[in-house]
Amino acid sequence: QKISIIGVPMDLGQMRRGVDMGPSAVRYADLSERLKKLNYDVTDEGDIEIEIKERADLHDYTSLKNLEAVTKGNERLSTKVREVVEKGNFPLVIGGDHSIAIGTLAGVGKRANNLGVIWYDAHGDLNTLETSPSGNVHGMPLAVSLGIGHEKLTNIGGYMPKLKPENVVIIGARSLDDGEKKLIRDKGIKVYTMHEIDRLGMTKVMEETISYLKKRTDQVHLSLDLDGLDPREAPGVGTPVVGGISYRESHLAMEMLAEAEFITSAEFVEINPILDNSNKTAEVAVALIGSLLGEKLL
Ligand code: ARG
Ligand code: MN
Ligand code: MN
Ligand code: MN
Repeated sequence: QKISIIGVPMDLGQMRRGVDMGPSAVRYADLSERLKKLNYDVTDEGDIEIEIKERADLHDYTSLKNLEAVTKGNERLSTKVREVVEKGNFPLVIGGDHSIAIGTLAGVGKRANNLGVIWYDAHGDLNTLETSPSGNVHGMPLAVSLGIGHEKLTNIGGYMPKLKPENVVIIGARSLDDGEKKLIRDKGIKVYTMHEIDRLGMTKVMEETISYLKKRTDQVHLSLDLDGLDPREAPGVGTPVVGGISYRESHLAMEMLAEAEFITSAEFVEINPILDNSNKTAEVAVALIGSLLGEKLL
């Protein structure tokens, strides 16, 4: 199997600097080498061109922060992801803030009949401009992919929606805005909050998630926001929330996905080395990617 690594140095979907260095931090944590050891044929496709903040601000005319530059970067990303998928490679996207899920999903969604998504995150990322407390696009990508939001964003890749609400499973939620809660109820989106993870255990959560998505989807994308993990174990993120998923539970989740053999694309986002402790969060990301792609101790 061939894997294409795509870096996306996007920091325009939120206000904290440094998340644009996520792709470098993950490469520095030896991502390619780790995957080559698992006998994959790995190509690093380099980084998608993203406007730097100082210039993006010049074009920021609306209350949706950096809308123009976020849109352009995601268009480029969706084209790249689509090319990679058409070659038959597995796209592994490294962020960058979570607004890049808009481009990734636009790129993988085109060829799927029934795309499924696992959204591993402390947040729902289901805001619209009307419900957002911040105007930050990284709080909106799941809504946008469902076809809800500013048309510049929902039309990325030239079609919409990318996803059906019943094909989404959110895991790790513990910070949801009121508008997001309403959307979850109205659309019937499946959510495993920290309450369910504590109560059922990660094994049951993943068994249910896998059988739920296997029944109804033909491809499954994993969108893993490092803030889904507890900030003690993944401190290098811009919007940490206490009481998160542990390192061990996260490895278990990735190992169960590897055994189920149904993930067809993945992205690891919100890694911010400036807020980190000696690149720990990028190292966690690389370790989880290893498990997702089949690494085992024995
Ligand atoms: N819900 C908050 C907002 O809309 C935080 C979103 C955080 N999203 C993320 N991808 N880290 O601004
Ligand atoms: Mn930047
Ligand atoms: Mn998050
Ligand atoms: Mn997120």
